[in-house]
This record gives sequence, C-alpha cells and structure tokens, in this order.
Amino acid sequence: MQEFGIRIEGLRKRYGEGDTAVDALKDVNMTVAPGEVVGLIGPSGSGKSTLLKCLGAVIEPTAGRMTLGDELIFDNAWKTRDLRALRRDRIGFVFQAPYLIPFLDVTDNVALLPMLAGKPNALARQRAAELLAALDVSHRAAARPSQLSGGEQQRVAIARALANQPPVILADEPTAPLDSERALGVMRILNDMARQYRTAIIVVTHDEKIIPTFKRIYHIRDGCTFEEAGEGRTL
Ligand SMILES: Nc1ncnc2c1ncn2[C@@H]1O[C@H](COP(=O)(O)OP(=O)(O)OP(=O)(O)O)[C@@H](O)[C@H]1O
Ligand SMILES: [Mg+2]
Repeated sequence: MQEFGIRIEGLRKRYGEGDTAVDALKDVNMTVAPGEVVGLIGPSGSGKSTLLKCLGAVIEPTAGRMTLGDELIFDNAWKTRDLRALRRDRIGFVFQAPYLIPFLDVTDNVALLPMLAGKPNALARQRAAELLAALDVSHRAAARPSQLSGGEQQRVAIARALANQPPVILADEPTAPLDSERALGVMRILNDMARQYRTAIIVVTHDEKIIPTFKRIYHIRDGCTFEEAGEGRTL
C-alpha cells in the first residue's frame, strides 16, 4: 500500500441549510507526500481556511474522504471518536501569529504538548531542546516569548508544531508578518523539517516572497482545487 502524508478526495463542506446554505468546498482533491511542502493559494472566500479547518478536525466536512499518514480519518463521517487526540497527536498547526504561552519559557512552550500527550517531562524537554537546536534558537531556551524577536518566536512556534512528530503540519500564512529574508528562512526550515521528519506540510499563503519556493501549488477557486507545478526555487 502506498503511504500518503495527506490525501483528500472529493471533499465537500456546506455551511448552513436551505436557502442560506453556502457550499464552501465543492470538490477538493489533494495529495501531499511525506516530506513534501505544498502551497495552497486562492482568492478571499475561496475556501482555504475551511479546508484547513476540515483537515485539522476543527470542523466536520459534509462529504468526502481524508487520510492522514496511513490512517483514513474521515469517510463521509469521522472514523474516530476522539478528535482531540487526533488533533494533538497527528497535526501540527502554525499560524500567522505564533500564539506562544507568555508565562512559560521557550522550552516548556515546545514541551507542553508532548507532556499533555503523556510523555515523561524529562523526555519532552529533551525533545524540545533538540528541536530548538535544529531551529537555531537554543540560546533562547530559558527566555519568555515576549523577550524574543518575531522571527525567533515563529521558529519556536514551528518547533512546537513538530514536538509530537505529527505526520501533518498545517500552516496558515506563517510568513505574513516577516521580512523577505526571515520569510525565506521560515520556508527553508519547513522544508528541512519536512525532509528530516517525513512530515507533509500545507502552507496557505498570499506571500509573493515565498510562492516561488514551492515545487507544487494547489489553487483553490470557488471551492474546487487544481494543481500546478511551482518554480521550486532552491532555499
Ligand atoms: N461559519 C461559516 N458559516 C457560513 N459560511 C461560512 C462560514 N465560514 C466561511 N463561510 C463561507 O465559506 C466560503 C469560504 O470561506 P473561507 O473562510 O474558507 O475562505 P478563505 O479562502 O479562507 O478566505 P480568506 O482568504 O478571506 O481568509 C466563503 O463564502 C465564506 O463566506
Ligand atoms: Mg481564510
């Protein structure tokens, strides 16, 4: 059996019912291989956030199939009752703002999710230290988030997204507030991490600075996806 990082087939999402119903997703088809980073681009209202929320098990699709890693998670209905565990163990989120917890130091911001997932504290902190080293922010491990620069905070947020080694990372405009050099730095990190940990990554973006870095891009228009080859510029 072929293993898919992310596979979405015929996904539909209707908000509401009757005359006021909105078909936000009509026919979404997408695959992202383990270790691959793809872009998701589309105009406002095209369904990008709706798609990430479905994939992240935050809202329930109306129909279709979704596979994460080797597990079919949705087949016209959720295949598991425990969506919290699904979100915690299988999906890492990176947002435009880092949303770090202000009263925890950098290490504990990264170690928190593995601890909540039941990992012994010492092991969770050790894993956090490794990720912080890989993302070149070890020197800030004992600092509070407010003492970090914007780019450092975003790297910590990426470390946190990777902490449970999820097969999937969903990033919504992760580089929007960063300058060109730092935006490309974040993309380099996401690509390195994808390769190293075999993570499948979707990046929703409008950011012209990073669009040339994708090898594959999915466009979404009016709730339907189509694929295009990207430039795949070396980072
Ligand atoms: N909770 C909701 N109830 C009803 N309609 C919704 C809801 N959320 C989104 N929609 C509609 O679904 C469609 C897709 O919205 P979505 O937020 O997914 O777009 P988007 O591509 O993320 O847009 P943007 O780039 O502006 O963030 C839009 O027509 C929107 O009005
Ligand atoms: Mg949106």
